[in-house]
Amino acid sequence: MAEFRIETFGLMERWTIDGELRRNALSKAMVAELGEHVARVSGPSRDVRAVVLTGAGTRAFCAGADLKERASMSPDEVRHFLDALRRTFRALELSDCVFIAFINGVAFGGGTELALACDLRVMDEAAEVGLTEVKLGIIPGGGGTQRLPRLIGRGAAKDLILTGRRVASDEALSLGLVNRVGTVEDAMHLAKMVVENAPLAVALAKHAIDDGAHLALDAALEVEQRAYEQTLGTRDRLEGLKAFAEKRPPVFTGT
Ligand code: COA
Repeated sequence: MAEFRIETFGLMERWTIDGELRRNALSKAMVAELGEHVARVSGPSRDVRAVVLTGAGTRAFCAGADLKERASMSPDEVRHFLDALRRTFRALELSDCVFIAFINGVAFGGGTELALACDLRVMDEAAEVGLTEVKLGIIPGGGGTQRLPRLIGRGAAKDLILTGRRVASDEALSLGLVNRVGTVEDAMHLAKMVVENAPLAVALAKHAIDDGAHLALDAALEVEQRAYEQTLGTRDRLEGLKAFAEKRPPVFTGT
């Protein structure tokens, strides 16, 4: 059974986690299918440049790991599940495609970690996020202890992770955990703005931000310089300059 509903809008796709009855919780099958979709849009064809990832229904974006499936797993099976989860979340970050989470309802545990692995986050006003794992005797296992402090700082991350509390949209916005509070249309609009830009430049900028984030400034600036260098020989750079001179919108080809 397909775990995601996929819709295409030109160079964009919307992926909806299709498990409303279990609040879009992450099962083994769902993680495997997510990995296949990420690999598909990260391949050489580059005909999907941005993905909006959301959950079915209005209650949940994703209620974290599937706790019903988890109940019958051995520790080794849990390890395998987490390996697959970590690899899949990392693949989102390493992809040239831009991922935007639309957090349409609650996102707890792995649900928040999935959103953290995306490039941008838009949150419904009534939604809640939280890394609630310590309430279950575990810790975040999909990168939450590392990505959350990188995004909002160690102090704020400890506040959320050590208490396991649920965070409403206004606080999530003020912490910088989400980029916007809004609707799925707002998330699609962000995606549209991204895909109108030069695709190589967008991918290089995404990776420069991620790769330089925790280097000393001089090393980080070298990361940026190497990325900029790769734009110099592109047709799209020349097209950007030409379109500016001719006072028309550029037509980028990704070359
Ligand atoms: N794994 C598997 N099933 C889950 C689930 C999860 N993480 N979260 C919810 N479900 C299931 C419920 O068991 C219930 O199934 P049932 O109808 O067979 O009883 C169904 O989804 C609806 O859940 P319910 O609690 O009635 O819905 P709600 O909208 O009132 O609340 C949540 C939704 C997500 C707030 C609540 O279910 C919850 O707190 N879930 C646990 C989330 C969590 O701790 N995740 C962290 C994992 S590390």
